[in-house]
Amino acid sequence: MPLSIQDFFVPLLFFSSIASAATVEHVFQVKNVVVKPLCKEQMIPTVNGSLPGPTINVREGDTLVVHVINNSTYNITIHWHGVFQLKSPWMDGANMISQCPIQPRNNFTYRFDITGQEGTLLWHAHVVNLRATLHGALIIRPRSGRPYPFPKPYKEVPLIFEQWWDVNIELLNLQPAPICDAYLINGLAGDSYPCSENRMFKLKVVQGKTYLLRIINAALNTHLFFKIADHNVTVVSVDAAYTTPYVSDVMILTPGQTVDALLTADQPIGKYYMSISPYISANSLAPVPPGHDIRSLIIYEGAKSTASPSMSLLPSGTNAIPTAHRFSSNITSLVGGPYWTPVPGQVEEKMFVTMGLGLDRCPPETKCNGPLGQHIAGSFNNRTFLMPETISLQEAYFYNISGVYTDDFPDQPPMKFDYANFSVRTDSEYEMMFPERKTSVKTLKFNSTVEIVVQNTGIISPESHPMHLHGFNFYVLGYGFGNYDAIRDAEKLNLVNPQMHNTVGVPPGGWVVLRFIANNPGAWMFHCHMDAHLPYGIIMTFIVQNGPTPETSLQPPPSNLPQCTHDPTIYESPTTNVDLPY
Ligand code: C2O
Repeated sequence: MPLSIQDFFVPLLFFSSIASAATVEHVFQVKNVVVKPLCKEQMIPTVNGSLPGPTINVREGDTLVVHVINNSTYNITIHWHGVFQLKSPWMDGANMISQCPIQPRNNFTYRFDITGQEGTLLWHAHVVNLRATLHGALIIRPRSGRPYPFPKPYKEVPLIFEQWWDVNIELLNLQPAPICDAYLINGLAGDSYPCSENRMFKLKVVQGKTYLLRIINAALNTHLFFKIADHNVTVVSVDAAYTTPYVSDVMILTPGQTVDALLTADQPIGKYYMSISPYISANSLAPVPPGHDIRSLIIYEGAKSTASPSMSLLPSGTNAIPTAHRFSSNITSLVGGPYWTPVPGQVEEKMFVTMGLGLDRCPPETKCNGPLGQHIAGSFNNRTFLMPETISLQEAYFYNISGVYTDDFPDQPPMKFDYANFSVRTDSEYEMMFPERKTSVKTLKFNSTVEIVVQNTGIISPESHPMHLHGFNFYVLGYGFGNYDAIRDAEKLNLVNPQMHNTVGVPPGGWVVLRFIANNPGAWMFHCHMDAHLPYGIIMTFIVQNGPTPETSLQPPPSNLPQCTHDPTIYESPTTNVDLPY
């Protein structure tokens, strides 16, 4: 059923009778186009022909309708990263969790309300590596008449960080993607790469004015530092949750995180670089991506065209981990601000979840290139998540179809060991390197408060992994290094003004403590937001059960929800590992 709408995006606004709530409608035409960020032309899948894709602008309380027309050669879903999807779990766009993918030459319409959150989020494809080029900003402003909880900026500027592979499109279908060739800021590589010297993002500013930077790390696999030469910024929101204003000269964003920050042009008239650089927290196993900073430019009105821009040094080496930790752990929520709710004190579900890499046994007679001659795997509590292949988990749950998953995901790892400083001393420790491959879920009672200690392991390599939860924000009650100590560390948790996130970077060889209220029935993914780690299976799924009323229960899916085919090549499958450690 092709839609007869033009193949570019039309932001149509239909004002409904509800005061100030609107329906914002877009058409997303997914199609392959040729682009040239570096020296070679490359064919990539895009939404509406642009990289990054279109920015969606809504106000809190609006209904967003996006008609996705798949004219690409890929199966796709679009995920609205960070959107609560309250009562619309079929619209989450998580491949094989909330839906089967939209196949080539097919359409699907996403329709959901955006309520109870404001700030910057992103949308992205949620099938194999397609997020690399299928992504864009999703900006949620307050309802009309409601102010920001900070001084109104003179202008707002989205800054989208991306990773670029200068390769044939099909390579991007490999799991995981090989080392990238460049990073982009708003689709532009800037002056540190060949052929793109003159294609750099430039922000013209007026001295004395304040700008709201809406920063999105849309990179597939890399945490990124961001810094503006000679300027501090004031963070006012992370992951579309308001923060206590926090002044910093540098920031870190994991893949999937967003930061809103105020920048005042308070320096002498001139030019200043805004730079990003990768934060590599894994030990020597990690391949080092291009080492130089990736730059964009702030140009003050009145600056001489010949002026040479001020530079800044980004954190690197031994400086990187402490800098990242300081920025991440210092953010606090804006208590009393819009949508702030106090931390629930009573916890119904406590989980201690080990997370990290591991190994998958190399099949006999084959050569595997991972550590110890095996494949790399990843796990939560020693389980590698296997994607269902015939029907989405949410449909399997809703229709009560057995054999798709088990609901025995464990609340703790199979044994205690020295998680952070892993070394093999016993047979059972050796076994901890080989997670079980299973499609198992954790079932949660409606409205229960869930606390999860995510403990990063040092198996294969300690590394900061960004944990992303679909459908909810969580409070981050604490961050630390080493093994979490339920007595010593629990005392230090912040229950007063903890930051809220949908994605949190777990320190390398460390832990985070998260809390959320399971108030939205459906199947929700919790996973590492480095796409390289999805095929390794660093994925969990929560199934939140129905509440007492139809209003609080999972409703039937829309009649046109895509059906799965039995073509095995289209699913995110942990069996297609290429052993490239990140
Ligand atoms: Cu931003 Cu499951 O993804």
